[in-house]
Amino acid sequence: MTPHAQQFDDWIRSRFVEINNQLEQRYQAQADRANVHGVGDALKQQLTDEGDALIANLVDEGNTDEGFDSAFDLLGNVGLYMAACRRHEITEPSRETHSPLQQASTLAMHIGASIGVTPRFATAHLTTHNRAINGQYKRFTDLPDERLFVDYNTKGIVAFKRAADALLRIQPLGISHPVVPDLLLVAEQALKDVLESNRYLFQHLDAQQFFYAVRPYYKPYRVGKEVYRGANAGDFAGINVIDMLLGLCCANEPAYSQMLVEKFLYMMPEDQRVLRNCMRLPSIMDEFLAVAPQQHSSSWFQQNLRAFLRVCKLHGQTAIQHHNQLVDKYIRIPNENLGSQHQTKVTASGPPLPVLLAELANLRDKRAARERDDIHTRYHDIATLTALVDN
Ligand code: HEM
Repeated sequence: MTPHAQQFDDWIRSRFVEINNQLEQRYQAQADRANVHGVGDALKQQLTDEGDALIANLVDEGNTDEGFDSAFDLLGNVGLYMAACRRHEITEPSRETHSPLQQASTLAMHIGASIGVTPRFATAHLTTHNRAINGQYKRFTDLPDERLFVDYNTKGIVAFKRAADALLRIQPLGISHPVVPDLLLVAEQALKDVLESNRYLFQHLDAQQFFYAVRPYYKPYRVGKEVYRGANAGDFAGINVIDMLLGLCCANEPAYSQMLVEKFLYMMPEDQRVLRNCMRLPSIMDEFLAVAPQQHSSSWFQQNLRAFLRVCKLHGQTAIQHHNQLVDKYIRIPNENLGSQHQTKVTASGPPLPVLLAELANLRDKRAARERDDIHTRYHDIATLTALVDN
């Protein structure tokens, strides 16, 4: 890290958090917690000016070729600063045609384009690639709910990645290999871990605090002239690797591939490579269906199919839990209670909330292989395979 990059990192880990803390306290003290207008203007000015001065040094320094990790980390720091400015409505994409944060935009676009990711902070910056120093990783505020949310997003992502890694190892072995049950067991355990950590989050995260003081840092913001959608916990390859390798979702379905195309640049380059590779692989479900007529009574088929169906079921359960518990409690219900003047600004991805909810419900039903007559799900194929399992 160059001295300027180090200075900026120190600021992000200290003053930046203090200013956000103070602003959050002021918003919370109002009758209308969602309002940020005319509140803490001197603090907002400090945030803007201090960050801008540090970033100006980095723009002057140019591309210092410190390697991918440093560049990605610096992009995260610029992104945290821009996201906080958006949260405090120092910038507001619908009000502007270009980001007023010119230096930050310049630096973010330079880095983003050079390393092949969107020029904004992404989920990986706060979760899987957020280095802790003496137990403290980067964050916007010291609010316990923010920490809980980030901790449990990270746990969920790491567990999904564990499941995806195990499933990827099946592909070169083939579904009849004797090691397949071991790999499916790893996937099963990892998905149970997701269910468990999401259950904890659901029980302990305060809905009001999340909605009013955590989620607003994840809104879309402008970099240069473009608006980039907010970060969400789904921006890693593993979740889609699981979808496609199990066969519950297919890359040749327009709605699904649209989502993949849209999310590529929000992921780390290594995740982009994994996902691209996975889009070319056959699914495990199709492999079982293909050999079922000849092999259904073989012992390998029975044993491996049982384990496979358990993994499919668990994957569906994680999607049901995400939608029916997390999205419902922390997004849909609080949004209903929000004054209409704030209602357009809720989601991280930008589309109106009912549209987003319908898209997420479709994903849930595909992952859970539910019977639907309007979208393609693997309901019938799962029923066919389930009927082949000996009792
Ligand atoms: C996407 C809400 C926690 C995994 C989304 C979206 C919402 C949402 C609303 C749609 C994107 C957008 O915001 O525009 C929540 C809430 C959470 C939460 C309220 C907790 C309070 C998690 C956790 C995971 C997760 C812990 C586990 C890794 C995903 C995935 C997507 C996603 C994979 C992408 C869409 C998909 O493939 O299903 N989430 N989420 N979320 N979230 Fe969460």
